[in-house]
Amino acid sequence: MPRIPRISRTKRVLLIVTSALAVSAAALGGGLLWVYATADVSTAGAEFSRELAVPPLAASTVRADGTRVFDLTMRAGQKEFRPGEKTPTWGFNGDHLGPTLRAGRGEKVAVRIRNTLGEESTVHWHGMHLPAKADGGPHQMVAHGATWTPRWTVDQPAASLWYHPHPHGRTEKHVQRGLAGMFLLDDDRSRRLALPKTYGVDDLPVIVQDVTFDGARFDVEHGLLRDTGFLGERTMVNGTLDPYKVVGDELVRLRLLNASTARIYDFGFSDDRGFALIGTDGGLLERPARMDRVLLSPGERAEIVVRMKPGERTVLRSFPHDVYGGGWQRRLAGGDDSFDVLELRAADTLRPSPEVPAELGGLEVPDGADSVRERHFGLLTSGINGKKVRMDRIDLTVVRGTTEIWTVRNEHDTPHNFHVHDVQFRVLEVDGEEPPPRLRGAKDTVFVPPNKAVKLAVRFDGSADPKTPYMYHCHLLYHEDQGMMGQFVVVEKGQRAAKVRTPDPHAGH
Ligand code: C2O
Ligand code: CU
Ligand code: CU
Repeated sequence: MPRIPRISRTKRVLLIVTSALAVSAAALGGGLLWVYATADVSTAGAEFSRELAVPPLAASTVRADGTRVFDLTMRAGQKEFRPGEKTPTWGFNGDHLGPTLRAGRGEKVAVRIRNTLGEESTVHWHGMHLPAKADGGPHQMVAHGATWTPRWTVDQPAASLWYHPHPHGRTEKHVQRGLAGMFLLDDDRSRRLALPKTYGVDDLPVIVQDVTFDGARFDVEHGLLRDTGFLGERTMVNGTLDPYKVVGDELVRLRLLNASTARIYDFGFSDDRGFALIGTDGGLLERPARMDRVLLSPGERAEIVVRMKPGERTVLRSFPHDVYGGGWQRRLAGGDDSFDVLELRAADTLRPSPEVPAELGGLEVPDGADSVRERHFGLLTSGINGKKVRMDRIDLTVVRGTTEIWTVRNEHDTPHNFHVHDVQFRVLEVDGEEPPPRLRGAKDTVFVPPNKAVKLAVRFDGSADPKTPYMYHCHLLYHEDQGMMGQFVVVEKGQRAAKVRTPDPHAGH
């Protein structure tokens, strides 16, 4: 065998290494290019072939003491989203999603929840002001076969709230399989105001979720390099794919709920018509705000009123949006995507609707003037203020009847939002500026743009319970499941937080 001189062997090794590197760099580059190029989706221009389903109003009975009682059974089922394809799903009282609960301010309510899923779960009342032990967070687990009956008195203004499971570490999966529903609250003002209010006719729940199918099943895989969680390739409303709704009134109220697990929508209409924003998460605004786009991150709601002309059609669309900065992060977080969400088809003759009132009433949210303390929350996917949630650690103790200023900063390039249980807060500032009109109402969830901060006035005026925590967390459910969550208790002045136990999986009875 000829002896290879040392120098040339080095050269040869170098050559091999260099060409191997070049090949893998090209492969990696090509791979990344492919990931980038295939990461955006659009369903703009879709055909609308199915009539929009409207979740039924939940039946209830009223007990002698005035308590309105609802029954919700969590169960497995299957649903044909597309003809011939039976998708395994979960739902409340049905195969998928749940009925719309409805109650009035001042009413006592109780919900009997029966879990038949085959695994433990919870039901949380998102946006509801209620005692911590009725909240349905990860401390109120309901075992398979068990029944849990939270009770409370509705003590907040009319609003479009919702309910969904909140089991620690598995919320994304449980919501994605179909466990979600709306909880509408009414009050004297909402009954009196001349707003569209006939449920399912000129007042429509619009539960928006994104979905991907893998054959008949939901595909729940997160895409390559997606650090926001699951992003679906199409949307559905109230569990209907490609939905249209025939409307018979000049004004239509849409109660928009982003019930997606990670996707952020920038809603508007395909013809860019304007609409009136009349309500946010926690209820009606002081006065309607005209706009042509409304951004909703997961968990947020917006009530809008749109005007229709006889015989015309328009499409509720989610537009590409630049809330993440640019480039890769925007593309991979879904910022370049667009979806045709729901087509509104006006009948040839429309019932006349009164103009949207110019004044809707007073806002019941704190202004922060009487704040007793400030707190800071740094958001990273790895945890809030550097810590992942622990079920047996209370992160903060707040005093009943006080207001605090919370500054929440997104400390990196990934989109996050911030949700606080039990309260409706006021957004005082976004990145040092006055908030845009869509954030000038009662809020329980707020989008926190990458590398920016929001400042909130939060008031705790419910009941004290030093033993049972409420949660605050990012409502991108994958992040929440990863531990981007914290716990607080509300105590009486001078009281301290008690030791909390980790949730008992066999709770409920
Ligand atoms: Cu909508 Cu803690 O949740
Ligand atoms: Cu909540
Ligand atoms: Cu997050």
